[in-house]
Amino acid sequence: MLEMRLCGDPILREMCAPVEDIDGELQRVLYEMVKIMEDQKGVGLAAPQVGILKRFIVIRNPETGELFKLINPKITSKSEGKIILEEGCLSVLGPDDLPVFADVARPSAVTVEWTDENKKPHTAEFSGNMARIVQHETDHLDGILFIDYLSSVKREMVMRKVKKRKG
Ligand code: CO
Repeated sequence: MLEMRLCGDPILREMCAPVEDIDGELQRVLYEMVKIMEDQKGVGLAAPQVGILKRFIVIRNPETGELFKLINPKITSKSEGKIILEEGCLSVLGPDDLPVFADVARPSAVTVEWTDENKKPHTAEFSGNMARIVQHETDHLDGILFIDYLSSVKREMVMRKVKKRKG
């Protein structure tokens, strides 16, 4: 069983290693991550959030319902223009056990390369919510959380809620 790792767990701050073998074990883990993401009503989940320091993520496009399993995802270009969107994270929970949300500015569009669970390479350009989710999830693979982009005042507001949960 995979276990969710929450803000404060040092594993979330580690750099993840590239996946070298796409095998049945990885496919099983990806399947289980999709289940966890859906149980928690999230739209993305990265391997370190379930304690695995490898570069893979799962995403459910909130508009189309399409499911993505991205192995070794790499953002190869980002738009110059940024937009502000609200973000939350299944590893940053408040007192009600639900994600704490905050506005974050990021590039509005990105180009991403990845390999899928059948070893097929992909390149795609995403904008809107998908661009946002891909950036948030690939950040996890480098030990970066969305709260890192907040002003210190806003980050404190989020962390106060996180600490209330630990009570
Ligand atoms: Co997250």
